[in-house]
Amino acid sequence: MGKLEKKVAVITGAASGIGRATAIRFAGEGASVVIADLNKEGGEATVRDCKENGGNAVFQIADVSSEENIKSAVDRAVKEFGRLDIIYNNAGLGGAVGPLEKTSAENWDRSFSILLRAVFLGIKHAVPEMRKTGGGSIISTASIAGLRGAAGLHAYCAAKAGVISLTRSASIELAKDKIRVNCICPGLIATPLTYNRIPGGEQTATQLFAAFQPWPRTGRPEDIAAMALFLASDDSEFVSGQAMVVDGGATSGMGAGNLQRGSQPAPQMLDDEWAGPSFQMKRPT
Ligand SMILES: NC(=O)c1ccc[n+]([C@@H]2O[C@H](COP(=O)([O-])OP(=O)(O)OC[C@H]3O[C@@H](n4cnc5c(N)ncnc54)[C@H](O)[C@@H]3O)[C@@H](O)[C@H]2O)c1
Repeated sequence: MGKLEKKVAVITGAASGIGRATAIRFAGEGASVVIADLNKEGGEATVRDCKENGGNAVFQIADVSSEENIKSAVDRAVKEFGRLDIIYNNAGLGGAVGPLEKTSAENWDRSFSILLRAVFLGIKHAVPEMRKTGGGSIISTASIAGLRGAAGLHAYCAAKAGVISLTRSASIELAKDKIRVNCICPGLIATPLTYNRIPGGEQTATQLFAAFQPWPRTGRPEDIAAMALFLASDDSEFVSGQAMVVDGGATSGMGAGNLQRGSQPAPQMLDDEWAGPSFQMKRPT
């Protein structure tokens, strides 16, 4: 028996990348899934993949910057499958990119409407349906960029930090209804969002990204889907208000990622080396 047998989920941004991998994983665990996305062609392909993986799925065209569209995705779950147990607020994009003083207020607002306001609206419209069935699981995609910051991604970082904060406050309010609220902070994951901006695309990105964190391979959408499955299933019944980091160790400490060290090789360390007082140190030649 699957971990999500008889459960019904809405996943936004499920036409591609992390959302698509999660929809396929959920379907394989017995869930019925509403694939909500702007991208009709990609969304319909995900529906086919979900069905091939043993689950049920429908596509709902949705722009998550529209409250009406988000409510329609929730309504579709109830109309089509009779209930709502899980919402995964995942749709996203890079949004406003570049120096702060060159960023228009309009692009800042557009970023926030998709990356943060949509998460608020997803929670708002899912909660009444989850109350009817005695509980549920709300998951959102934040980012390690919401924990640390990233050059030139001001609106993105601030919005993702907002997702983490909203997750915490919502979890406090909704615990009494047995609605858990968590978010996932992915590290660098090879999806069209990241590799479509890189010359050479997916192939080059996959090689490059492997050096972003200590774990010696590129992050995959399936890595995030596995965490989403844990948060959606009853296995995480006592977990709420958390930002789950899935990043191959990228945020574990300074110098964790080879890419962050640039082209400089990591300093050589001898077995059982002792770093003594600096005035006694000999600079390597
Ligand atoms: N890929 C990474 O390295 C990474 C890291 C941290 C966080 N994230 C987050 O993960 C989430 C998924 O991104 P991904 O990497 O899978 O990218 P992706 O581009 O593969 O998928 C994002 C999906 O969101 C949809 N979308 C965008 N704007 C929308 C809108 N207004 N309404 C409805 N759908 C919309 C797109 O059509 C697409 O299907 C995003 O929230 C992103 O910020 C990604």
